[in-house]
Amino acid sequence: MNKNIATLSTLLLLLFTSLLVSQEKRRNNLDSIEKQEPKIPKGRRFYMGREIAMTMHYTGAEWLIRDVREKEERCSLMLANLGVKPGMSICDMGCGNGFHTLKMAEMVGKTGTVYGVDVQPEMLKFMRERFETQGIENVVPILGSFHNPHLPKNSVDMILLVDVYHEFSHPEFMLKSMRDALKPDGVIVLVEYRLEDPDVPIKLLHKMSKSQVAKEMKANKFKLVKEFDKLPWQHMLFYGKANEKDAAAEKATADDQKADNAAGDMAS
Ligand SMILES: C[S@@+](CC[C@H](N)C(=O)[O-])C[C@H]1O[C@@H](n2cnc3c(N)ncnc32)[C@H](O)[C@@H]1O
Repeated sequence: MNKNIATLSTLLLLLFTSLLVSQEKRRNNLDSIEKQEPKIPKGRRFYMGREIAMTMHYTGAEWLIRDVREKEERCSLMLANLGVKPGMSICDMGCGNGFHTLKMAEMVGKTGTVYGVDVQPEMLKFMRERFETQGIENVVPILGSFHNPHLPKNSVDMILLVDVYHEFSHPEFMLKSMRDALKPDGVIVLVEYRLEDPDVPIKLLHKMSKSQVAKEMKANKFKLVKEFDKLPWQHMLFYGKANEKDAAAEKATADDQKADNAAGDMAS
């Protein structure tokens, strides 16, 4: 009888210990997931006076690879003016089904890499199917979250965003993460439908004006380094990291202007 009780208590002790271990394991697992993906902050509906557009749903992905896209947007002219070189590390942010990703993968060649980031796993699946069919091996798909693209820090020469930035529900978070992912001389390239042009047949919320882009980029420590304005429908704006020196130079110019204006007032 005593022997039976001893066996039973040993069994109960083992069961209890294994429960504790598996609970601990689960907690550690959750902790590590949470570390990778802390709670997503609440998204915005407006940013700096602009209404944010809804994310384009993956069921519309065919539209991104429509035959007339080249004629309408001159995508090859856009790509030719990006400044992509063999060996570069590039990100196609909001890559959708990989329309530009796959073309850039060819442009950077075997020694280069293109990260294709999107928040919709279905879009990444479509992209994967397309690059596998075409035998392309230098594309790295990344499932981003709405506030964090999960790009490695200090890793990319260029981040291309075609028809994407105006959809960001967390623009400041995304700009901060992209800033961190860029190498010191890296650029982000925003390609957005021109709001200033009523002939561009795109819904208003999916267009952006140059001045609105400028306002938002400046507030997030980016400076305009180049632009290409020969696309039929879109702005193509290159932004680099603004640093302390740029901010100081800008302040000095503003102070000079103020002083000039004051001097002008006194003279008149
Ligand atoms: C209009 S599609 C453009 C796709 C692609 N750039 C092209 O030109 O073919 C916009 C894409 O941005 C993605 N997107 C929206 N917010 C995002 C975010 N925070 N991070 C990454 N992708 C995002 C959407 O899921 C969608 O696939």
